Amino acid sequence: MKMFKTLCICFLFGIIQPSIAQVSIVGAGKKVDPYHYAVVKNGQFRRASVSSAHPLASLVGAAIMEQGGNAFDAGIATQLALAVVYPGAGNIGGGGFLLARQSNGELIGLDYREAAPSKASRDMYLDKNGNAVAALSQFGHLASGVPGTIAGLFATLPYAKLPFKTLIQPAIDLAEKGFVITEKQVNSFNSERDAFIKNNNHPIAFVKEGKWHVGDTLIQKDLAATLKRIQKDGAKGFYDGETAALIVAEMQKGNGIISADDLMNYTAKLRNPIEFDYRGHHIISFAPPSSGGILINQMLKMIEKYPVGSYGFQSVKSVQLMIEAERRSYADRAEHMGDPDFWKVPVKTLTSDTYLAERMKDYNPDKAGSSAAVKAGSIHESEETTHISIMDAAGNMVSITTTLNGGYGCKTVVGGAGFLLNNEMDDFSVKPGVPNMYGAVGGEANAIAPGKRMLSSMTPTLILKNKKPYVVIGTPGGTTIPTSVFQGIVNIVDFKMSASDAINKPKFHHQWLPDAVMIEKDFDANTKKQLIAMGYKVTERDGIGRTEAIRLLSDGKRETAADIRGDDSVAGF
Ligand code: DON
Repeated sequence: MKMFKTLCICFLFGIIQPSIAQVSIVGAGKKVDPYHYAVVKNGQFRRASVSSAHPLASLVGAAIMEQGGNAFDAGIATQLALAVVYPGAGNIGGGGFLLARQSNGELIGLDYREAAPSKASRDMYLDKNGNAVAALSQFGHLASGVPGTIAGLFATLPYAKLPFKTLIQPAIDLAEKGFVITEKQVNSFNSERDAFIKNNNHPIAFVKEGKWHVGDTLIQKDLAATLKRIQKDGAKGFYDGETAALIVAEMQKGNGIISADDLMNYTAKLRNPIEFDYRGHHIISFAPPSSGGILINQMLKMIEKYPVGSYGFQSVKSVQLMIEAERRSYADRAEHMGDPDFWKVPVKTLTSDTYLAERMKDYNPDKAGSSAAVKAGSIHESEETTHISIMDAAGNMVSITTTLNGGYGCKTVVGGAGFLLNNEMDDFSVKPGVPNMYGAVGGEANAIAPGKRMLSSMTPTLILKNKKPYVVIGTPGGTTIPTSVFQGIVNIVDFKMSASDAINKPKFHHQWLPDAVMIEKDFDANTKKQLIAMGYKVTERDGIGRTEAIRLLSDGKRETAADIRGDDSVAGF
C-alpha cells in the first residue's frame, strides 16, 4: 500500500511540475528500500537499465530514469549513491571517466581523473637513498591527488534532464538515514579496521565499537552534510567553502599537500574517444590519460586477422594468441602513455595497422614469447574501482568507471566531511621501472608533475553494431581492466556469448611485466597445462575484474548483467 501511495505521488508531481520531481525515492517501502534489498545478477529490461557494484546504487539509477531522467541523470545519481553505499570505491574523493553516446550519435568523453597537487614533484615518493616508498604513495594524506568526481558530475549535468538537487537526494537519504550493509561489506570493514584506525586521527563511520555484523546499518552524518553543501552550492559546495576548508585542514593534520588553490583550479576535461572497428563492430573507448582505449584497440586489432571464434573459447590457441597481444600492448603502455597535456602520446602510430602488424611479426603460436628482463613487481588487487553501465529508453549509452584507486583509497577520511580520499598518486610512475601497486611500470611519460593526471587503465567502453547501440561495458581491476574488457568483447563478438556469460567466464591476464600469465581459479585446467608446456609461467589469483555489461538484444530488450564476483547488481524496467 505504501509503495502504491509513493508511485501515485510521483505521478502527480510528474504532471503538475515535471522539473521538480523531488519526492524521495529512498526509504522503507519506497522504490529504494535501504533496509530490504537483494542482489540481482541479470535481467532483461524493455526500457532502461543500470548495472553497478551495489544493488542500492543500481536501484537509485533505475528509479531516477523511471521518474523521467535519462542515462546521464542515472549516471550522476548512481555515482553519488555509490559514494555512500559502496565506500570502498564509490567516491566523491576520487576521480573517473565517463564515456557516452547520446541518442543523436554524439560522443562524449569526460575526464575527471585526479590531478597531482601543485606542490607535487617528480621524486616526492623517494627516500634519501632514492628508493621508492610505497607507504607514501599508497597510504595517508600524501597519496591523494586532487579529487575530480564532483567536477565530473557537474560537467555531466548539461546532458541530464532533472535538477541536480533531485539527483543527489537519494545519496543524502542513504547517508543520513543509513542502509544495511552487505555481508561482503561487513567482512571488508572488519578487515580494514586497523588500517582505518592507523590512517585517521578522528572517529570515522566505518569503525565502530566492536565488530560489524550482518544486518548492521551504516549511517554517515558527516558525508550527508557534505552532500547537502554540494546540493545547495553546486561544485563550489565541494571545491570551495566549508568542504574545501575541511580538506585543507585534513591535509595539515597529516603530510598532505592539496591546497585551496588546487581545489579551486580543478576542472573536468573533454577528451576525444578512441574509435575503431573490430569484426564489423564499432568500438568506442577512453583516450589518455587512460591507457584503456589504446590497449583494447591494439589487442583487438592484433588478433583480428586470426579466426579466434573457430579456435574455441579458452582453447590454448585462442588464449595464447590473446596473451601475446596483451604482452605487446602493455609494453607500449609502460613506455608511451601518460597525460596527453604533458606528454605526446603517439596514439595514431600505436593504433595503426602497420605498427600493430609489425608488433606481431615475431608472434609464434607454438611457444611462449618473452618480456625483456626488467625489475618486475608482484600484483595485488584490492578490487576497488567501480564501473556503471547504463542504457536508457531514448538510446543514450553511458559507461562510467570511477575510483579511489586502492580499496578505500588512501584510507584517510576528511575529518568532519565524511568521505575517503584517493591514493591515485600511486598510479604515476614514482620511479622509472619501479612497479606500482598493480605491478605496472612506467617512465618519463607517466612521471609526476604538478597538475598532471596519472595514467589510468580504466576502460569505459561502448560497442555499436550496424551503427546502432549494442553494448555498454567496463570494469574495475587496476591493470587487469583493459584485458577484462578485451576478453569481454571477444567473448561477445567472437564466441557469441550473452552479456552474462561474457563477463562471468574465467579470465586470464598478462601485462608484459611481470612475465607471467595470471589466471582465475576456474580457468580451463587443460589449457593451463598446455600453456605451461609451451613455456608460460602461470599463476593463479583471485577474481579478475568485476564487469558490468548491457547488451541490446534484437527484440529491443536490454540484457543487463552484473558480475558474479561481488555484490554487483542490476536494476531496470
Ligand atoms: O586508474 C587506474 O587504472 C587504477 N587506479 C584503477 C584501480 C582499480 O581498478 C582498483 N580495483 N581493482
